[in-house]
Amino acid sequence: MCGIFAITSNRRNDIGETLVECAEKLTYRGYDTVGVATVFKDQIHLRKDKGKFDEVAEKHRLREMRGSKGIAQLRWATFGAPSKLNAQPHLDCDEILCAAHNGNILNFLPLREQYTEEGHTVRSMNDGEICVHVVERYFNQSGDLVEAIRKGCRDLKGDYAFAVMHKDDDKIYAVKMGSSLFAGIGDGETCVSSDLPSILPVTREIVNVHDGEMIILSPQKLEILRLSDGATIERNPYTSDADIRVAQKGGYPHFMLKEIHEQVSATRTLFSAIREPYISQFVDTLIEAERVFFVACGSSYHATIVGSYYFNDLANIAAIPVIGGQFNSQYGESLSENDVVVCVSQSGETKDVMDAVHHSQKHNVKILSVVNVLGSTLTHLSDLYLPLGSGFEISVPATKTYTSQVTLFSFLATQAGHKKSILDKKTVDSMLKDLKTRLPPLIDETISTTTLKARALAPYLSNFSHFYVLGHGLTHGVALEGALKIKEVCYIVADGMYSSEFKHGPLSIVDEGYPIVFSIAPNDAEHIVNHLAEVECRGARIIATGEDHQLLRRYVNEEDFLVVPNSNKYVSPILQAIPLQLMAYHLATYKNIDPDYPRNISKTLTVR
Ligand code: M6R
Repeated sequence: MCGIFAITSNRRNDIGETLVECAEKLTYRGYDTVGVATVFKDQIHLRKDKGKFDEVAEKHRLREMRGSKGIAQLRWATFGAPSKLNAQPHLDCDEILCAAHNGNILNFLPLREQYTEEGHTVRSMNDGEICVHVVERYFNQSGDLVEAIRKGCRDLKGDYAFAVMHKDDDKIYAVKMGSSLFAGIGDGETCVSSDLPSILPVTREIVNVHDGEMIILSPQKLEILRLSDGATIERNPYTSDADIRVAQKGGYPHFMLKEIHEQVSATRTLFSAIREPYISQFVDTLIEAERVFFVACGSSYHATIVGSYYFNDLANIAAIPVIGGQFNSQYGESLSENDVVVCVSQSGETKDVMDAVHHSQKHNVKILSVVNVLGSTLTHLSDLYLPLGSGFEISVPATKTYTSQVTLFSFLATQAGHKKSILDKKTVDSMLKDLKTRLPPLIDETISTTTLKARALAPYLSNFSHFYVLGHGLTHGVALEGALKIKEVCYIVADGMYSSEFKHGPLSIVDEGYPIVFSIAPNDAEHIVNHLAEVECRGARIIATGEDHQLLRRYVNEEDFLVVPNSNKYVSPILQAIPLQLMAYHLATYKNIDPDYPRNISKTLTVR
């Protein structure tokens, strides 16, 4: 949620151009409001408004803003409605300081009251404004901006990162307190941002920033201070080799479609991203643990559900999938140091997952993680992490990272099964070959063979405001994921459910022509026939994804059967999410919804 980008330069006096080019890459983090502030001729110039990035940038001619330093912010609204007034950045009372934040200041209401009583002009109902006033308050006392920021941070509660600048110098100050922040060192310029891709147009020399640190940007150098005692921290930059083309649409109309297609390459790069000895350490830790919890949210949580079936089946390990926000209240008090928590997150920043990490660490629980964004907070906090290597996922709906997570689970469960002598070497070799060699072309084939049918279903499905997506066993998580995609990008209440549970109530919804989508694992066809028959005899129109099977053909018409290529029990669930992603994508575009930026959603949710 929300993104900030800030830069100071001695090479440019047209900083609006760079701010727009870089901040535009943060669009996926929030598109409720946009704002840019620059310092030009010793004055702060601020333009901001409600709306998507391109609209605001054009309307307010953000590219034309002059100056050699500036801050841009894209907002996903939590505190304060999406409006021009609540848009960031915010000015202090005297308009000599300007700040923007990402994250949440949880005590902003009492602070707002206190500052107003003290005579501050607090203009908005947005928690980000408190950041500029808390600094202003201490700055007015000492005239020392670094000290003011350090003291101010002690008064703020929550998880956040912010950037602040004064009109009279060439510096920008930024802090990281629980929300993501990356810094870059360019030629005669330095910058900070909520994510890495937005820095790459300026530089590839990247400095990771840790919680509790302040970055002081000057055009010629970048300093790191520890907020608690003001000590200087030495940290060398590294050169990012991230492929910036991944952050461009590359001829596709939307990032979502591009990323669906990138699943072919993402499942390949996964296996070059994960390495020994980390794989073995990861698997050994799971085998030795008393209890294994998979903690994640949204699509990542659905991947853990599929993963829990793999671990049960292949390695006889009970891995318990838990929704991030529920973990502490459901299992928090019973944790022991023999338990292991495996956090799964594309962004590595999801607040609900972070809360589980912080709580578990207090109980000396080992934290393993599976994460896509390197340098994210989760990578810093984990005892051990495995990278997904999917490259940037720009579209708000997760697609390729979900598929890589599921693929990784099936790989890890196979390794665990082998180590526990549950699977013999021949079986393991064949399964690993399936994942490493056969899976990418099978994904490619799945996309080619199911796209037309997925697209053709859009007019029919668009007539419904709700329907069901059902799965069973290994495809339960697939059904939940398909349903989430449809809800997220089509604004249709698609309810994902375990298929045997459907008769315990929801069956009463079915009437003539009602759509029920099934995801059917190859070994389940005979069992699932019951569930198909129950809804078919009540008039449901069954749409299915699964391998071709004579029995299924009796219930599913040709045009409604999204057949995936033959593989096996473990690979098929990976493939079956793809027709559902395509169905959601085409339904969204049929309804004129931009699937990359569905309303009200942010890709990175750093709020509770
Ligand atoms: O970055 P994370 O994997 O931790 O994000 C978790 C969810 O917010 C995310 O998967 C969300 O559900 C997706 N936008 C769904 O497509």
